[in-house]
Parts: sequence; structure tokens; C-alpha cells
Amino acid sequence: MLPKKIERVLSSLENYREEEIQKETLGEDIPKEDQSLAIPREEGKFLYLLAKAMKAKHILEIGTSFGYSTIWLTAAAEEQEGKVISVDILPEKIIQATENLKKTRLEDSVELILGDAKEVIHKLVNPLDIVFLDADKRDYIDFIKLALKKLRIGGIILSDNVLDCPDIHKEDPEICEELMDFIRNHPKVSSVTIPFLPNGLEMTMKIAD
Ligand SMILES: C[S@@+](CC[C@H](N)C(=O)[O-])C[C@H]1O[C@@H](n2cnc3c(N)ncnc32)[C@H](O)[C@@H]1O
Repeated sequence: MLPKKIERVLSSLENYREEEIQKETLGEDIPKEDQSLAIPREEGKFLYLLAKAMKAKHILEIGTSFGYSTIWLTAAAEEQEGKVISVDILPEKIIQATENLKKTRLEDSVELILGDAKEVIHKLVNPLDIVFLDADKRDYIDFIKLALKKLRIGGIILSDNVLDCPDIHKEDPEICEELMDFIRNHPKVSSVTIPFLPNGLEMTMKIAD
């Protein structure tokens, strides 16, 4: 479906993900800069197909890491002559993602920004078609509030890890319930959980300004 050079980079990052999961299972410590925690392949493919179906031209990703999900989103945006803006708060992640995007030759269709997404999002000018959230779940409510201001009606916010959130946040699992309450009771959105395992992806459409 995708050009070979893109598939090759995706496969190498998928191998890395498998190794990372194995190390985690064995209780090995992985330094933060080496943790990628990329989404599973079928979720990446879903992002690609959704962005393609929506003919999305303006996509924001919060949480770039090594750029695995960024590659899926950018492959779809490139086909529409659109652009992905992807933000990560860690410089080493932006460096690694830049290298990976270069290998796919998709780099002209993506802007990788180092910074806190809460600050970066204010500066965006184009109405967004898709916002993909894959960062600290404690920030998701703030991200969603900010994203809704920038999203067009009919635009989609995708929030990763809504199902495994309580496992990730064992010390403060209540944030997961608060997040779902916020989304489900928001008057300007309509939302559904897509049960990708183990993550769970919340798909939230803006239905009113
Ligand atoms: C789970 S990883 C993203 C994985 C990536 N989306 C993928 O599937 O390939 C989460 C990333 O969010 C970044 N992050 C956390 N808080 C952030 C914030 N406030 N603004 C931007 N990035 C943030 C972390 O540095 C980390 O690299």
C-alpha cells in the first residue's frame, strides 16, 4: 500500500517496539530517551486510512517520539499535498524522528516541533482536520480544550490509550475516568471508543463551534 522505503522504516520501528515490549516484560530498565512506545501497526494503518478518507490536509500530532505514528499520518497528508505538525517535548525524540522521517523521504510534508504542545498549539493558524493525542494522559483534557478551538467542524480528535490508561496511571487512575467523563459529556462533540488492544483509541468528532 505504501512505497517500499516507507514500509522499510515502519518495519524497523515495529521491530524496535517488539524488543522494547520484551525488555519491559523482563523488567529491564529502558532509559527515557530510548523509550518509543509507538502505537501498534493496525492503529497506524487506521490513522493512515482515516486521514486519507477525510482528505486531511492539516494534521496535528502531540507526542512524536521516534516518528512511527508521524510516518503513517504524513504518508496520508502527502497524498493530499497537506502537512503534519508533530510536537514532542524531548529534544532527543525530535532528533530521532527527524532521522526516521528523512529515511522515508516524507520530510517535506511534516514539521517536527520541539516544545510543550500546550504552548505550540496556540500558534497554529490553519483550521485542523485531525489532532492525534499520544502524550501524557494527565494533559489530555487540556489538549482537547485547546484542540477544539483549532479544529474545523467535522474534524476529529484521536486520543490514544483510553483503554489501558488505568494501567499506565496506576497511581492516579481517576484521571482516566475524568477524561472519559469530560469527552462523553462535552456538548460540542460526539465520540466513540475504538477497541484497539491494548491501547484503545477514542475518536471524537467536533460537531459544533
Ligand atoms: C507514547 S510517546 C508517542 C509515540 C508516538 N505517537 C508513536 O506512536 O510513534 C509519547 C511522547 O509524548 C511526548 N510528550 C509528553 N508530554 C508532551 C507535551 N506536553 N508536549 C509534547 N510532547 C509531549 C513524550 O516526550 C513522548 O515522546
